[in-house]
Amino acid sequence: MRANIVLLPGDGIGPEVVSAAVQVLEAVGQRFGHTFEFSEHLVGGCAIDQTGSPLPETTLDACRAADAVLLGAVGGPKWDDPRASVRPEQGLLGLRKGLGVFANLRPVRVHPALIEASPLKPDRLEGVDLIVVRELTGGLYFGQPKKREWSDGQYHAVDTLEYCESEIERIVDLAFRLARQRRKKVSSVDKANVLESSRLWREVTNRVAQRYPDVTLEHVLVDTAAMRLVTSPRSFDVIVTENMFGDILTDEAAVLAGSMGMLPSASLNGREGGLYEPIHGSAPDIAGQGIANPIGTILSAAMLLQYSLGLEQEAKAIERAVDRAIAEGARTRDLGGYLSTTAMTQAIIERLD
Ligand code: IPM
Ligand code: MG
Repeated sequence: MRANIVLLPGDGIGPEVVSAAVQVLEAVGQRFGHTFEFSEHLVGGCAIDQTGSPLPETTLDACRAADAVLLGAVGGPKWDDPRASVRPEQGLLGLRKGLGVFANLRPVRVHPALIEASPLKPDRLEGVDLIVVRELTGGLYFGQPKKREWSDGQYHAVDTLEYCESEIERIVDLAFRLARQRRKKVSSVDKANVLESSRLWREVTNRVAQRYPDVTLEHVLVDTAAMRLVTSPRSFDVIVTENMFGDILTDEAAVLAGSMGMLPSASLNGREGGLYEPIHGSAPDIAGQGIANPIGTILSAAMLLQYSLGLEQEAKAIERAVDRAIAEGARTRDLGGYLSTTAMTQAIIERLD
């Protein structure tokens, strides 16, 4: 197979972890006889510095034409002025919206050998295997109006949390389809005791659930969900939720896996293409030191092979190699070890079968 993959290294540790994933993809290509063509484009802070825009048109066009997109991270202190009108994160949000990738899949598995790396008690972590399906192109991130206004002698700021039925329906339906391939349980997370958008979410979810009588549905309020994620994470299989709740809960869920650096994600539009990125940010504090954990991005590359290219075997090979490397003691600093990004990547490539 031949595939065109757009690389968006971005800012901070982004370039380091993307280059690690490219090495793994190249090794997989060689082993399985595929040719991956990579082209690199600008997004985020580095794009602002070089072009004035966090998402140059050439970048979005290249991503639309690609078979898949692999992104590192965007943002950093250099562009963090809250008064700035142009921000790196606008590049990422524009990309998600521009590609229409409404479904963000964030799987969380706890590797037995990493239980010690998590601050949680081991008995809570054994057997955790859940996936968060985060709505990615709606809600507070995109709702209008979104602005600041001067009135009665002070600033007022507003963000808008809006969802329409079709937006809820497509993401919830995807969650149910995923659950069918797993343990057949969907936990829909909302704040229906307070928010109108959540009450609509709940209604639509109940409607979708009727099409999946073999799947169990529960509704969980987001505050309870936050608590349950750390008290009884095993009780979750598929979690589906709106954009902002999903953002918050997945950082919390990363604690289960031992480090933010472990978690991959896939953002899909239900048609073609796909955007793949680790859930961690640009980690400016360790950028350029060669010590970032590449696993989140390497596992994102595995998801890319699975979901965008249909290369199931190859994706599994990467996951197994990561599992083996960890089982055999390979650790970057965030996991309490000393391996550099390149040494960890090498340890994984050596274990590809
Ligand atoms: C994430 C990140 C982004 C988000 C930021 C960088 C805009 O936190 O992918 O979870 O909030 O979606
Ligand atoms: Mg986040």
